[in-house]
Amino acid sequence: MSHIDSAPSTPGKFKMEKATYFNRVRWHTSLAKLAVWSFVFLGAILIFFFRSPASTPVPADLSRRSLRTYNWGGPVWEKRVRASARVRSRNGFAVLVTGAAGFVGTHVSAALKRRGDGVLGIDNFNDYYDPSLKRARQLLLERTGVYIVEGDINDEALLRKLFEVVPFTHVMHLAAQAGVRYAMENPGSYVHSNIAGFVNLLEVCKSVNPQPAIVWASSSSVYGLNTKVPFSERDRTDQPASLYAATKKAGEEIAHTYNHIYGLSLTGLRFFTVYGPWGRPDMAYFFFTRDILKGKVIPIFEAANHGTVARDFTYIDDIVRGCLGALDTAEKSTGSGGKKRGPAQLRVFNLGNTSPVPVSDLVGILERLLKAKAKRNIMRLPRNGDVQFTHANISYAQRELGYKPTTDLHSGLKKFVRWYLNYYSDVKKADE
Ligand SMILES: NC(=O)c1ccc[n+]([C@@H]2O[C@H](COP(=O)([O-])OP(=O)(O)OC[C@H]3O[C@@H](n4cnc5c(N)ncnc54)[C@H](O)[C@@H]3O)[C@@H](O)[C@H]2O)c1
Repeated sequence: MSHIDSAPSTPGKFKMEKATYFNRVRWHTSLAKLAVWSFVFLGAILIFFFRSPASTPVPADLSRRSLRTYNWGGPVWEKRVRASARVRSRNGFAVLVTGAAGFVGTHVSAALKRRGDGVLGIDNFNDYYDPSLKRARQLLLERTGVYIVEGDINDEALLRKLFEVVPFTHVMHLAAQAGVRYAMENPGSYVHSNIAGFVNLLEVCKSVNPQPAIVWASSSSVYGLNTKVPFSERDRTDQPASLYAATKKAGEEIAHTYNHIYGLSLTGLRFFTVYGPWGRPDMAYFFFTRDILKGKVIPIFEAANHGTVARDFTYIDDIVRGCLGALDTAEKSTGSGGKKRGPAQLRVFNLGNTSPVPVSDLVGILERLLKAKAKRNIMRLPRNGDVQFTHANISYAQRELGYKPTTDLHSGLKKFVRWYLNYYSDVKKADE
């Protein structure tokens, strides 16, 4: 600090006033050298950044969790991508599953692979919740022959490369920043994944030839502050109660635009509180289980005047069947060369269970399955994104997709608890 303060303010000028002709020539030569070295240095920086298309930095943007560089590309990598996406059944699809290391993504990828479709996953493995769970799901999928490319859906060069290697017939788009409460902590991550990422994916899909059909996850949260039940696809969705809901609603409007202008076939699925094995640790049924076992107090919300908070809990296998039904009934996109050639399919479906259960009943079931008493702390529902209840009308999905949920909450939670106890006892053993 003191060194900088004591330096003359115009050192160059001070020297030039006293310089001889010889000194002046030397000065110009030094300047020329300096210029040459500056160019060399600048050139080196440019080469460093633009050298390899196989390692694309995610642009500095709103998400502090996604500022990472991923490695992809090369013949070995391409071979792996091709092998994973190879279709093994007659009339099977080649499906790109975004968010494949996520809860729903893992189950859908495994189901598609099982029936002979080609599946390639992409996921950025962000740390919104314990990434080791995502890695464990990745391992599970690897064993079934599904490769998950580590990358961000905002990485246009990567997505283009994937479509160059595999002409995907379908995209199952599940990558998103989920969770309603976290939006108050990190709003940028919702814009990054649910809006910018979705647009980037659609930009790539609209321009490839042939265009894939896209099925993507919207959310029951778009019903927001609606009070009319059960929620029907025809109901208003312009009163979101969280930024998460607002980004999903924006996604539905963006889908409309890309369908309208470019002829992309788009099907949005409004999932209602999905639960099950390999689930998400940020969801109530999951952390209630953890906290009941630890003897920790769990918050149970109630609305004004002791109003019941209820959710239309939907078991993962039912959701997977809905996703597959949507893929199977998706019509081809109609555009090519980035231009629409005719009207294309645009749909939105509720995928719920049609039987909302009060959250306190959920806790009762967990107590019985875990053989442990919950320490309940009844609290007023905070105004941070959660709504009082969700309840799906699924008649449209029933008609068009053959969607018919078959798992009640008790049977589904039983399977979840069995998985939870196994998984975390294995994790504990591995840590010891
Ligand atoms: N689980 C539910 O109850 C529920 C309810 C309604 C809607 N949804 C929607 O369903 C989809 C799947 O949900 P989930 O429960 O499996 O969530 P999840 O968080 O387990 O899965 C999402 C995956 O996407 C990945 N991801 C996020 N941003 C990404 C990006 N920019 N690039 C690449 N990968 C990225 C994450 O790492 C994660 O593995 C999401 O779109 C979610 O909003 C889920």
